Amino acid sequence: MLRPIIKYGHSVLQQAAQPVLELTDEVQTLVNDLVETMYAAPGVGLAAPQIGVPLRVFVIDTSLGHDPAALVALINPEVIERDGMQLEEEGCLSVPGFTATVARPRFVKIKGLDRNGVERVLEGTGLLARALHHELDHLDGRLFVDRLRGIKRDMIVRKVRKLARAGQW
Ligand code: NI
Repeated sequence: MLRPIIKYGHSVLQQAAQPVLELTDEVQTLVNDLVETMYAAPGVGLAAPQIGVPLRVFVIDTSLGHDPAALVALINPEVIERDGMQLEEEGCLSVPGFTATVARPRFVKIKGLDRNGVERVLEGTGLLARALHHELDHLDGRLFVDRLRGIKRDMIVRKVRKLARAGQW
């Protein structure tokens, strides 16, 4: 089912999400909804808090649905290793219309459960590493805007407030 994506300013996006304790039918539905909503947006990744569910689950597909093998759904992900640094333009479905250059590790190795409860270890560089860190941040209540400093951050915050006042956010 397509779920509404909540936006920057909503309290669920600013809270640390809780670990999944049991792979219930609700969790399976959550994963399905995340995948469907991510592809419809379209986006490269989507975390459960972005649809208002405070659980440690996210989905990523850096191929935007073109390569079925590129779809990742991770539950209770944890970083094992990270290395290096990359600076690239980044956006977020919860902050529509805004992008900024964000520093992220160049490489990440991560582990988590897939939707069947099997432990997966995943390595990524480039866009995949960026997406993994971006979605992990969501699970810790952090958006890319929170990683910005100074004028760039102030500008986004100010514009979002203005949109919100106008009822357009
Ligand atoms: Ni995001």
